[in-house]
Amino acid sequence: MANVVVVGMQWGDEAKGKVVDYLAQSADYVVRYNGGNNAGHTVVVGDEVFKFHTVPVGVLNDGVTAVITDGVVLDPQVFVGELEGLASRGVTSEKIKISGNAHVIMPYHKALDSLEECSKGDKKIGTTGRGIGPCYADKMSRTGIRISEFVNPDVFGKRLAECLERKNAIITKIYGGDAFDFQQLYDEYSVYAAKIGPYVADTTTILHEASMECANIVFEGAHGSLLDIDHGTYPYATSSHCIAGGACIGTGVGPTMIDRVIGVAKAYQTRVGAGPMPTELMDETGDKIRERGKEYGTTTGRPRRCGWFDAVAARYTARINGTTAIALSLLDVLTTFDTVKICTHYEIDGVKVRDFPTDLGALERAVPVYEELPGWSEDISEIALFADLPAATRQYVARIAGLTETPVCMISVGRRRDQTIVIDSEMLHM
Ligand code: IMO
Ligand code: MG
Repeated sequence: MANVVVVGMQWGDEAKGKVVDYLAQSADYVVRYNGGNNAGHTVVVGDEVFKFHTVPVGVLNDGVTAVITDGVVLDPQVFVGELEGLASRGVTSEKIKISGNAHVIMPYHKALDSLEECSKGDKKIGTTGRGIGPCYADKMSRTGIRISEFVNPDVFGKRLAECLERKNAIITKIYGGDAFDFQQLYDEYSVYAAKIGPYVADTTTILHEASMECANIVFEGAHGSLLDIDHGTYPYATSSHCIAGGACIGTGVGPTMIDRVIGVAKAYQTRVGAGPMPTELMDETGDKIRERGKEYGTTTGRPRRCGWFDAVAARYTARINGTTAIALSLLDVLTTFDTVKICTHYEIDGVKVRDFPTDLGALERAVPVYEELPGWSEDISEIALFADLPAATRQYVARIAGLTETPVCMISVGRRRDQTIVIDSEMLHM
């Protein structure tokens, strides 16, 4: 049995989609366990580019059952749109399963997301505006609508009426916004509910039985560990459990059932939205990384903030995930730099700090201290073996492994499936 969690080690956009897609080729199940359509996972197959927001990446593989579990928040409109988009490209959705316990993102969640953001002024989080925070807030206050209620027309009607009464009061009385009309919402969303109904299943039992039958399960983490609601840079975080432990919380699969955790990290650092990012580069080097890495959001198109690899943050996320090995992505982006830098520690108020600060104020004051390594100019994008990489590139990878105290098992040198260097297949494979 091999159950593998793929998790982001930074602030999201680590190319988790590519790693999940790679593993999905020998998987039986691919499972989304957290977040919603604030995620954007890109997979390139041949000349085709697929962008996923809610549907697990594994759907591209015929033999894979793609599962959306309890911990996910699902926007019915987006999900149905995604299914239709995939169908038009010949991808079947027959093997998708959705937990009845997942929560439903409604239009009032999206409205509240932007109203709350606007009211925060310069304390804005820079959310994706997809209603994620307000939907998880309802879940935690035990007032949300679950998929099992959503797909039952009578129950949905009653629950929607209850929710709308409260939401409309908040939207109109606190924010001065426009109220939602019950009938309009009910009619539109009932159409989605009817389309989603056939996919609803007891995903916890499905995954338990699969584990008993020694199936290979890949847990597709969304976002990044530094965006985790508990362990990330709160309040500049998302509202779900993004770390590997979230795979247990979000699915009902126990911790002893997880065999491996692959932490995906970019060869440099990026962040979208607000919040501290010690290694951010506001200069030409940052611009060069952004252009070479095409660092613009999959979900919102926003330019990403770019900087050098932060080994302080990565060592922290390696720990909180129990990362067994790192998949290092976008290494080809660093080609052509004379030298490359890695942040080995911070200086905070004149003191050398090696552990990622849990206090946001300290992180905001952190000054990155770098180690400078030789760069490389050779094109590495078609190299298939680690030994064939330039010596400077190998040295860079080895330094990341050393500083994060975690082996690197795989390197991505381009967007295509075959632009992948496997260093240790034992750690990676199932
Ligand atoms: P993937 O899965 C990058 C960020 C947003 C914002 C903060 C809160 O593609 O790696 P939210 O809409 O979640 O309430 O926004 O979290 N964020 C992401 N950034 N990649 C993601 O997902 C993200 N999901 C959320 O930019 O700063
Ligand atoms: Mg993203």
